[in-house]
Amino acid sequence: MSEVEGIKGYGVTARLLHWGMAILIVALFLVAWNMEDLPKDSDERSDMFALHRALGVFAGLLILLRLLWVNLSVDYLLPSQGPKWQALAAKLGHWGLYALLLSMPLTGILGSIYGGHSIDVFGLFSIPRQPDSDLLAGYADKLHELGQYALMALVGVHVLAALLHQFVQKDGTLTRMMKG
Ligand code: HEM
Repeated sequence: MSEVEGIKGYGVTARLLHWGMAILIVALFLVAWNMEDLPKDSDERSDMFALHRALGVFAGLLILLRLLWVNLSVDYLLPSQGPKWQALAAKLGHWGLYALLLSMPLTGILGSIYGGHSIDVFGLFSIPRQPDSDLLAGYADKLHELGQYALMALVGVHVLAALLHQFVQKDGTLTRMMKG
């Protein structure tokens, strides 16, 4: 239960989606940073790229699911206390995160399929390779590369805001996301 009266806890689905996404994003960054350093044309490199692509598509699907859940679920309520600017900043930050978390899979997929690779998502389904386009793949790869910095910055602000809620404002926001 929440420590602030009138605020419901996050449901188990919302919490699973949130922490599942958090783990996936960390994994995507770790795999991405490592795969770039592997020797060109090695099996290990192509396996790591394939893993990154499959995890990334999976993350994109989870983000869509979470967006649907946020809009359908009455659980998703932010604390009503605190200044108005803070509520606005939280809203902007969350929508910024969703926009980035959707654009990373999108640019990753476009960069791959127009750059000569099909995408196999853990043997469940695949996204076929399209006729090569250096222009499209080039722009998509550049946006994917730049997106990582924007995502890191927003995730940093997000974590900081959660800690401020928990330890300065003491409104139980982080507890609700952990225990409901
Ligand atoms: C939330 C989802 C994703 C995150 C957070 C993410 C993150 C990253 C990061 C941090 C890099 C390293 C960028 C660099 O330093 O150049 C990268 C590279 C890459 N990602 Fe993703 N990615 C995601 C989804 C995807 C998806 C869905 C695909 C393809 C299906 C994909 C394909 C690639 C490829 C091919 C590279 C290498 C690009 C290059 O070397 O030009 N990513 N990704």
